Amino acid sequence: MNFLVIGSGAREHIIAEKLAESGSTVYSVLTNLNPGLLKLSAGYHSVTAYNSRDSQISILDFAKENSVHCVVVGPEDPLANGMADMFWKQDIPVVGPTRQLAQIETSKGFTRDLLERYSIDASPRYQRFKTMNGASEFIDDLGGNYVIKFDGLMGGKGVKVAGEHLHSKEEALIYCKQLVDGSGTYIIEEKIFGEEFSLMSFCDGRKLAHMPAVQDHKRAYEGDIGPNTGGMGSYSDSNHSLPFLTEQDISGAREINERVFRALIDETGQGYKGILYGGFMITGNGIQLIEYNARFGDPEAMNLLTLLASDFSEICYNITQGNLGTVTFRNKSSVCKYIVPKGYGSNPRKDATLIVNPGYARTSSLYYAAVNQIDGEITTTSSRAAALVSSSSTIAKAEEKCESGLNFISGNNLYVRHDIAKEELIKKRIENMEKIR
Ligand code: AMP
Ligand code: GLY
Repeated sequence: MNFLVIGSGAREHIIAEKLAESGSTVYSVLTNLNPGLLKLSAGYHSVTAYNSRDSQISILDFAKENSVHCVVVGPEDPLANGMADMFWKQDIPVVGPTRQLAQIETSKGFTRDLLERYSIDASPRYQRFKTMNGASEFIDDLGGNYVIKFDGLMGGKGVKVAGEHLHSKEEALIYCKQLVDGSGTYIIEEKIFGEEFSLMSFCDGRKLAHMPAVQDHKRAYEGDIGPNTGGMGSYSDSNHSLPFLTEQDISGAREINERVFRALIDETGQGYKGILYGGFMITGNGIQLIEYNARFGDPEAMNLLTLLASDFSEICYNITQGNLGTVTFRNKSSVCKYIVPKGYGSNPRKDATLIVNPGYARTSSLYYAAVNQIDGEITTTSSRAAALVSSSSTIAKAEEKCESGLNFISGNNLYVRHDIAKEELIKKRIENMEKIR
């Protein structure tokens, strides 16, 4: 089968690799010349963005020219701009929800309201705003524990948390005003405390197949401090849970995904076909929803697809046909660490260099992200450069392998959160949950 992969990060690199491994021919639509995708693709089409009418038409033409049987959309932008709707209208099946269903990611307010309407009790207190009216009062009401979120896509960077990114009510109101002036709507919600994890489910419009839990690290710097990023690295455990979660936590998260999936059918009359990503926090008050995404997590896709035992091309096509069977993952642990330009998350260097010595392959796999290969040279951009992934019988062994692999990556002005998946950080998470429960 001919697959078209939309997107040019590490997530799409591994998606393309898995499709190719299961015998499919891969074509790519890229916004940067990702060397991994260039190598795997039978052909590629380069666009500057996904949202213009011209680029959408050119992408459709490219798919038709190459007799594409199925499209897999990696990032949220094309989904938000109706890429799935466009292909389905032409009878080309797509893994990824329609624009209406993608609201589960594109509007945090839509999602909070959906949970409320369907009595899915997993939200902190929240209110939606379009102006400054009532913002100050609600912040007071939350007594210092608040989070302010832009109600739209901002690559994981539109969220500011009291005490971490906002240090006074004045700063909070300045941020609200900034969002209002940018003609954005926003939400203010209660800041909750606990440990975060991601639980994704393949959805075929009628049923779901759940994936192992993964923990991402959104903060830019070691010790979980600094600005929010797209994700600095992630790990998963061989039992498909995480060291600080109980079986009940996992079944609770699965149940929320299932109920949200059904609520979306009720609400829109459409079955969700793609990956439903629940971002949860386990708190003293049980499991709470932080956000939904309408796609594979990045970096989480590197953990999950590394461990996937079932045929990925079949899974993708079956999703589009409402025909998803059992999906199995290997009982191994995995660790992924991103190599990013220094300052990523706030003020990234644009002149970082990335040098890859193939020795990394002894212990790890490498997936290229927002880099360009031009005349054989790899240049970085202001976003994540490459992800290194290892798997083994335990998290500790996978982490060690990942670090050995990182020794083969060099260059200037790069940064890696080495603390991710180290024993010390995991111990801290377990102890934190023991205190909270
Ligand atoms: P989001 O883009 O909604 O996933 O938010 C980014 C990050 O902000 C999350 O991964 C959390 O670390 C943090 N965050 C978001 N909402 C809350 C909340 N209600 N309470 C505490 N932290 C939050
Ligand atoms: N790992 C977070 C995200 O993909 O949004």
